[in-house]
Formats: sequence, C-alpha cells, structure tokens
Amino acid sequence: MTGNDLSLDTLLAQGGHFVDRETGAVVPPVHAATTYARNSRYELTGYGYSRDGNPTGAHVETVLAKLEGAADALVFSSGMAAIAAFFDTVSAGEHIVAPRVMYYGAADLLRRLADRRGVEVEFFDASQPGALETAVRPGRTSVVWIETCVNPTWDVIDVRAAAEVAREAGAVLGVDATATPPVTLRALELGADIVFHSATKYLGGHSDLLAGALATGALNERWEEIRAARTRTGGVLGAFEAWLLLRGMRTLHLRYERQAANALAIARHFEGRAGIEAVLYPGLASHAGHETAKRQMEGGFGAMLSLLVEGGAEVAKRVATRTRLFVPATSLGGVESLIEHRATVEGPLSAVPANLLRLSVGIERADELIADLEQALARGS
Ligand SMILES: Cc1ncc(COP(=O)(O)O)c(C=O)c1O
Repeated sequence: MTGNDLSLDTLLAQGGHFVDRETGAVVPPVHAATTYARNSRYELTGYGYSRDGNPTGAHVETVLAKLEGAADALVFSSGMAAIAAFFDTVSAGEHIVAPRVMYYGAADLLRRLADRRGVEVEFFDASQPGALETAVRPGRTSVVWIETCVNPTWDVIDVRAAAEVAREAGAVLGVDATATPPVTLRALELGADIVFHSATKYLGGHSDLLAGALATGALNERWEEIRAARTRTGGVLGAFEAWLLLRGMRTLHLRYERQAANALAIARHFEGRAGIEAVLYPGLASHAGHETAKRQMEGGFGAMLSLLVEGGAEVAKRVATRTRLFVPATSLGGVESLIEHRATVEGPLSAVPANLLRLSVGIERADELIADLEQALARGS
C-alpha cells in the first residue's frame, strides 16, 4: 500500500487518483505554458518559468513519490540528465564507489568526474561477495552508487546490506533501479537515500519517450542541490513527455507482471540448452543472487536476462541478426522484446562478456518468443 493507503496497482491505474475538479476530466491536462503570470501583488502563485518545473511534471512526480514511498520526486529530460544532476552534488576530492559493470553511460560520467573534476571513483566487482564493503572507506566515501539488478549481467546487489555499509561509512546510497521499478522493488524502504529510474524504460514502457526520475527518502540540502542543478542545466522533463510518461505508467503493474513471467519462462527454457553457456537471470535458482532477489523483489524477478552463447562474439552477433520477433535494438523495458549484443553497443571500454546477448522481454506470448530464439540460435550458431 502507498502513503495514502491505495495499492500501487490502483494508484497506477488511476494515474494518481486524478479527477479534474473543474471539468471532471479523468486524465490530467498537458500544461504547455513556459511562463506563468504573477498576481496583483506581483507574486508568483505556484509556477514561474517551466525550466524550474511544470504542473504536468509535478503530477507525475507526485505519483512517483507515492510509488516509492518517497518524500519527493523529480523528473528529468532523460535518465542521464537525472544521474548528472545527482552527481553534480559531488565536489573535487570526494570518494565515490560504484559497480564495475553498470550502465555504461553512468560509468562514463563517473570516469569523467574522475578525469576532469578531481573526484575519486572506485569501481567494485558486484559479482564478488564483500567487494562493496572493501571498496567503501569509512569516513571518506561520500556516495555509494549501485544498480540492481546490474545491467547487463543481472547480478543482484543486496540493497539493505549496501544501505548499512553506506550508513556506517557516512555515505549516501543512490540506487539505479531502472530494471526493478517500484512494483517489484522499493529501494527507499530497503534503506537507500535516493532511488533513480531511467523512466525511458519500464515506467514509460512503450519505447516512445526519454525521461529520468529521482526520488528521495528525505528533504535535505543535497535534494535541493539536485533540484537547483536541474534548473541550472535545463534537464527538466517537458510537459508533453511528462504526460506521456504518466499515460505509460498507468499500466506498469500489468506490463511488468507479464514481462517478468515471460522472462522466467525464457530463462527456464534455455538454461542447460546445448549452445548456451549460461543464462543470467535472478529468477533461476542457480543464479548467485536468487535468494537476495527473493528477499528484495516482489511479483517476479524482472524482465531482463542475458544469454552467454557458445562460440564467442561472432556467434552472438549472428544470433542477434537472425531473430524475427526480438528486435535487434538497444534499450529495454518496452512492450516489445529486444535483443542486443551488448559489447558492440558499449564499445571498446566495455567490461561485458563478448558472448553476451541481452534480452529485454516484452509482453508478447512466451511460447512465440522462445520459438523465435530457438530458430535464431539454430540459424546463427
Ligand atoms: C540501467 C540504466 N541506467 C540509466 C540509463 C540512462 O537512461 P536514459 O537513456 O533515459 O538517459 C539507462 C539507459 O539505457 C539504463 O539502462
């Protein structure tokens, strides 16, 4: 249940329990205005200029804050705009800890912080127990940034344990929960300080908008700095995209349930199949993070999985070009299934295994998706 005692499903379906008081409209309007009039005392009565925020975005933020059990939420023009605003709060000399395999755009941003802005960044191996604890320096580390599940190996990081390590060290814990939207994992309740989503993915859900979101457990100086960074750099989400995001979110719970069920069926089918070295999916009992995933995720184990194929990069790339239903495209979280050879997409700095195929599983029928992968493997191997 949420802060206002509605279940997440009901809150999502009703777009934040919205009915317009003036018109009775059951869908909020798009407030396209970029500027807002002052009153007779020359005061602003709510909004001023839409780079600071707009009513349509504020509506989505209210829903997101409820979904996450957050004190507040902010939406941005992309996931990377949100991540950049978060790391804008970090100064030269600070020590940041993050996973070695993580979303490569965020890793790139951290490397630039280290190269250009004098921030010390330490990457840890999320597949190794105890690696996070070793990387964190008590009294010195200011930010611990984690992803769960880690893209694209789907290692599961224990958010509760990471929160404890961060708290003891005096650091802030930020969680990129793009792959685990709030219908399955609620990072703030597990002890995170800030949760991030590329809303381009599951929250939007239809591969038709770019957006990012941050939600905070507490209203504090860092949060106000993040809000100021959004205004300064113009990373705010436009009103039309905010409206589209809210429209997409209304079916998040249904989409995610089907996607996670499809992903589990695919993972089970291909585990142990000839030609497949490994299936990386937290829903499999054989996955190292399965027990942690069971503890911290609800209603399934996510809809992202990776296949390590025998025969290396060449076979993997061939398989990715032989699918008929899985679209060979980057991104994730949409209603249509996607396949990608991740190392190609990430480029030469990629730490991803060369034989890894990443699958973003959609809402199609599982048996048809499995048949598609079977024929692609048969023709590509
Ligand atoms: C896990 C993760 N974090 C962050 C991002 C960045 O989000 P955006 O592409 O919306 O800027 C992505 C995008 O692929 C992602 O997959």
